[in-house]
Amino acid sequence: MKRARITGIGKYVPENVVTNFDLEKIMDTSDTWIRERTGIAQRHWVTNPAVETVSTLGAEAAKRALDMAGLQPSDIDFIIFATLSPEHFFPGGGVFLQEKLGLEGIGALDIRNQCTGFIYGLSVADQFIRSGMYKNILLVGAEVHSTGIDKTTRGRDVAVLFGDGAGAAVISATDEKDCGILTTHLHADGKHAKHLWLQNPGSAQSPFVNEQMIADNSIYPYMNGRYVFKYAVTRFPEVIMEALQATGYSKNDVKLVIPHQANQRITEAVQQKLELPTEKVYSNIHNYGNTTAASIPIAMTDALQEGRFGENDLLVLAAFGSGFTWASAILRW
Ligand code: ACO
Repeated sequence: MKRARITGIGKYVPENVVTNFDLEKIMDTSDTWIRERTGIAQRHWVTNPAVETVSTLGAEAAKRALDMAGLQPSDIDFIIFATLSPEHFFPGGGVFLQEKLGLEGIGALDIRNQCTGFIYGLSVADQFIRSGMYKNILLVGAEVHSTGIDKTTRGRDVAVLFGDGAGAAVISATDEKDCGILTTHLHADGKHAKHLWLQNPGSAQSPFVNEQMIADNSIYPYMNGRYVFKYAVTRFPEVIMEALQATGYSKNDVKLVIPHQANQRITEAVQQKLELPTEKVYSNIHNYGNTTAASIPIAMTDALQEGRFGENDLLVLAAFGSGFTWASAILRW
C-alpha cells in the first residue's frame, strides 16, 4: 500500500503587522492584557481585502510548498482547502485557489473544520493517497479573520486573538515504509457548537442577512472563552495520547509537538499535562496570533526553518477548536 508524506511546506502572511500597541489605539485593551492572557505580541492583517483574499494568500503559500517539493502546479492532482473565512459564501476558496494556480479541471474540496481544518484535510489527503486515487495533493489552510471581527471595545475579547495568513503542504505518495503520515484521529462534539461560533449570516434565517443582525452584533464571532479553554486543555492531551497509543510510540520518541496556535496559555497547559519539556512543544503565536486553519502549516514551516526538526524526526500535530472539533496526527518527516 502507498504511504503519504509531506514533501513540501510553505507559508504566506500579509505584510501588514498589527501590534498590541496598534490595537490599544482602536479599542480599550492593553499590550500587557493581551500578552499575559494569550502570549500574542502581534498579528498580520490584510490591508486590501479585495486583493488579499484567502485564495491569494493560499496561492502564495502553495507556491512555496511546491518549490520545496520540487514540483510544478501541474503535478498536483487534487486540492483540499480549509478555511472558516472564505472570500464568498459560496463557492468555497478551493476553486479560486485552483484558478490562481492555473489548475483547471482537477478536483477541489473545501473543508470547514475551523482550527482543526488542517488536520482534517491531512487525514483526507492520507486516505486518498493510501487508496491510490491521487499521487500529489495540495492541502491549504488560509484565513482572513481581520475583516470579520469587531475591532471595537465591544469585540475586544475575540478581536485581539486572531490573525490572517496561509500555510500549505504538498502531500505525495511514497513506497517507503514507516514514514510520512502514520496516523490521524478526528473528533467532534456538536453540543458545544454555540460556545464558539458565528451565528449570522446563515440560512437558518430569512432573509439570511438583515439589518437586525448588524444591530445585535451577531455578524461577529461569539466565544465563551473560559468554556473553550476548559475543553481545549482536556482534549489536546487526550487526542495526542490517542495518536501515540495508535502508533505504539512514546512521548520520548517525539521530536516536536506542533499544536494549533490557539493561545499560549493553552499550549503551556497541554505541555504541563503531558509532562513534556518546553522545547518539545512548538509555539509561534507571539508573531501571528491565532490563524485557525493556517496555524499548523505556518508553525511547521517556521519550526523547520528554525531547525527544530529534520529528516526522520517524529512529529505530533494536534488541534482543538470551534465545533467543538479536535484532531491529531503523527508523522515521520
Ligand atoms: N483587553 C482588555 N480587557 C479585556 C479584553 C481585552 N482584549 N477582553 C476581555 N477583557 C476584559 C473582560 O471584559 C473582563 O473584564 P471584567 O473583569 O471587568 O468583566 C476581563 O478582561 C476578564 O475577562 P475574561 O473573559 O474573564 O478573561 P480570561 O482571563 O478568561 O481571558 C481569554 C480571556 C484569553 C479569551 C481566555 O478565556 C482564554 O484563553 N480562552 C480560551 C479561548 C481561546 O484561546 N480561544 C482561541 C480561539 S478557539 C481555538 O483556537 C481553540
